Amino acid sequence: MATQDSPDRGLENADRPDLAEAGQASFDKIIAADSRIEPGDWMPDAYRKTLIRQISQHAHSEIIGMQPEGNWISRAPSLKRKAILMAKVQDEAGHGLYLYSAAETLGISRDVLNDQLLAGKARYSSIFNYPARNWADVGAIGWLVDGAAICNQVPLCRVSFGPYGRAMVRVCKEESFHQRQGFEILLELANGTKAQKQMAQDAVNSFYSPALMMFGPPDSDSAHSSQSISWNIKRFSNDELRQRFVGMIVEQVKVLGLTLPDHDIKFNEETGKWEYGELDWDEFNEVLAGRGPCNAQRLAHRREAHKNGAWVREAAAAYAAKKAKKEQVA
Ligand SMILES: [Fe+2]
Ligand SMILES: [Fe+2]
Repeated sequence: MATQDSPDRGLENADRPDLAEAGQASFDKIIAADSRIEPGDWMPDAYRKTLIRQISQHAHSEIIGMQPEGNWISRAPSLKRKAILMAKVQDEAGHGLYLYSAAETLGISRDVLNDQLLAGKARYSSIFNYPARNWADVGAIGWLVDGAAICNQVPLCRVSFGPYGRAMVRVCKEESFHQRQGFEILLELANGTKAQKQMAQDAVNSFYSPALMMFGPPDSDSAHSSQSISWNIKRFSNDELRQRFVGMIVEQVKVLGLTLPDHDIKFNEETGKWEYGELDWDEFNEVLAGRGPCNAQRLAHRREAHKNGAWVREAAAAYAAKKAKKEQVA
């Protein structure tokens, strides 16, 4: 039986010990040349498992991530905003699909990955367990959450596994539109009435810390980092990416005329890096453990959506079977 991050199509190297030596040598050469590993290439089992875990977590995050904002499509303040938000949420569905496809090339099926998500065994980004309480939150999610996603994902365009890197190129282009639409929502609110500006500020205050925590635990506590860096799966450490993100938003927040809820942000001239205040990692761990504000709601909603989509899957399977039969006859 396939475990959380092992392939379910017999791709473990134990099945072909005769290929191990030459396979490892060729893998090492590709990694050293900073080139790409493709699905048919030999790869260490641990590399395959790491990628399955990372790509599937990423795919689940895109799919669950549709919920906080999807909830606002019917309540968007204008037709234009509704159209933009709908396009954004659809993009996230597309991101999930590219990523499930990339994971499938590693020998795990989408059904298995989906079952893991629905059973509550798979992780997805903790940020989506926070609610979007009002329209300003939709802006803050676009600006901060999609902004953090961009910082995380731009380096992944150069990841060593081909299908993942290529999916990321398109994903990043779309994420940059997502961030701009969020920024524009906040800009309009910040330039509106006093109450609207306060709404925008409250939303930034709420999403600032969870967005910074999207980069994962501090480097000192990050279990998978160094191995992933040596495999060119991870290009920068969690802390490097986090401080890069702070440097980006600290300038953008000035244009909004808002502030970040962190008095410790400063640029360290010596290191050339942005420094920020302590983050509440206890809260992060609570949400990760399933005790965030919306964990149960997000999974319940996904299970329901999956159930409601059964007729689509059945129809698609029936059509595929009919087509295959026709091709056989022809
Ligand atoms: Fe996305
Ligand atoms: Fe996005």
